Amino acid sequence: MSPASGIGSPRQSLHGQWSSRLAFILAVTGSAVGLGNVWRFPYIVGDNGGGAFVLVYLACVLAIGLPLMMSEILVGRRGRRNPVMAMSLLAQEEGSSRHWGLVGLMGVLAGFIILSFYSVIAGWSVAYVFASGAGRFSGADAAQVGSLFEGLTSSWATIGFWHTLFMVMTVMVVARGVEKGLERAVRILVPALVGIMLILLIYAITSGGFGDGVRFLFQPDFSQLSGASVLVALGQAFFTLSLGMGAIMAYGAYLPEGTSIGSTAITVVIADTAIAILAGLVIFPIVFANGLETAQGPGLIFLTLPLAFGNMTGGLVFGTLFFILLTFAAWTSAIGLIEPAVAWMVERLKLTRAQAAVSAGGVIWLLGFATVFSFNLLADVQFGAGTIFDNADYLTNNLMLPLGGLFITLFAGWVLSARVTRDELALAGEGRYRLWRFLTRWVAPLAVVAVFLNAIGLLRLT
Ligand code: PFF
Repeated sequence: MSPASGIGSPRQSLHGQWSSRLAFILAVTGSAVGLGNVWRFPYIVGDNGGGAFVLVYLACVLAIGLPLMMSEILVGRRGRRNPVMAMSLLAQEEGSSRHWGLVGLMGVLAGFIILSFYSVIAGWSVAYVFASGAGRFSGADAAQVGSLFEGLTSSWATIGFWHTLFMVMTVMVVARGVEKGLERAVRILVPALVGIMLILLIYAITSGGFGDGVRFLFQPDFSQLSGASVLVALGQAFFTLSLGMGAIMAYGAYLPEGTSIGSTAITVVIADTAIAILAGLVIFPIVFANGLETAQGPGLIFLTLPLAFGNMTGGLVFGTLFFILLTFAAWTSAIGLIEPAVAWMVERLKLTRAQAAVSAGGVIWLLGFATVFSFNLLADVQFGAGTIFDNADYLTNNLMLPLGGLFITLFAGWVLSARVTRDELALAGEGRYRLWRFLTRWVAPLAVVAVFLNAIGLLRLT
C-alpha cells in the first residue's frame, strides 16, 4: 500500500490507504473471487447433492455474509490496524476485554492453513496453463483427461514444484507491497474471466447436458440435505467471501473515510455470487453430458473443463487463457489470505514487509507439503473428514471461519456501541442501519450457532 494520500481520518492509519473507493472494491473483489468460486463451489455442490445445498448457501451469503462483510470493513477502518490489534483496541475503547484480539489471531492462523492448501490447488491451475498450451486437451475424452489429472497429482514432486512457484509469486507481491498493481489488474482480470466463462456457458448450453445441469443446481431436493451439509454451505459462504478470518478487516484498515461500506459490500457480494453460479452452470452440464459423477471431489473442474476446451473451436487459446486468469484470480486471493499475518507482524513485531512476507510465506510453503503429499504419498492416510487436505479444508472452512465470523459479528453487534457503528457505516437511512444491526446482533450469530448445533446433531433443522 502506498502512503496515505491526505485523506483526513479520526485515527491515523499505521499504514497506507487505498487511493479510491474503486481501488478498494477491486481489492476486495480480488480477494473474494478466486478458487472458491470456480474450483470449490462446483465441487462441494457436487459432493452435497445440488439444489437444496445451493439454496442454503445463498441464504447464508445474504443473511450472514453481507452484514458480516460490512462489520469486518467497519472494524478494520475504525481500528486502522491489523485485525488482532484493531479488535483489541476497539474492545478496550468500549470498556471491554482486549482479549478480543485473539479472534484476529485465530484468523491469522486460519489464513496460514488455508493458504497452505490454496497454493497447492492454484499450482494445479498453473500446471494446466502449460497442459492446455501444449495441446494436451485437444480432442481428449473423459478417460484421457482423467489420466492427465491423475498423472499430475500422483507426482508429489510435480505438484510440489507448482505449489512452490505459486508461493514465490505470492510472497514477491506481498513483500514489495505492490498489491496496487495487482488490484488494478483485477479490473481487467475479473471481466476477462467472466468473458471466458460465458464462452464456456455457450458450450455448456449446446453440450446436451444443460437441462440436467440446471436441474441439479436449482431444483432443491431437501432429502439430499444433511446437518453436515448445511454447515458446509455456511463454510462455503464464508470462504468465498473471504470472511471470518480478518482478511476483509485488514483491507478495511486501508479504506479512506467517507467511502460507503454498504454499497461496497453489496457490489462485492453480488459479483462473487454471480461468478460462482456461472461456474456451476458451466461445470454440471459438462458432467452430465459426459456421463460423469457429480461427486468428484477437488478434481472436479480439472476433470471437466478440459473436456470442454478440448472439444470446442478455439479451445486451445481459451483453455490456456482461462487457466492463466484462474491463476491470477487465485493470486489476488492468496494475497488477502496472508495480509492479516503480514500486517500484524509489521505493526506488532516491527518486521519489515519483506521479512514478514518471507517468514510467513516460508511457514505456509512448508505446511503446504502436507496437502501435496495427501494426493500421493499419504493418500491412504484417512481420518476425520478424509485425507490430510480434506481435514485442513474442513478445519478452516467449516470450523475456524464460521467461528471467527461468529465472534466478529458478536463484536460488531454487541461490543461496539451503536454510536460507533452507526457513525462508521453511515448508511443512507436509519431503516438500513436497523436492519444491519438486527442481522448482526441476532440473525447471524443465532444462525451460525444453530448450524453448528444442527451439524453435531443437537438440533434438528434438517
Ligand atoms: N475468497 C477466496 C476464494 O473464493 O477463492 C478465498 C479466500 C481469500 C478466503 C482470502 C479467505 C481470504 F482471506
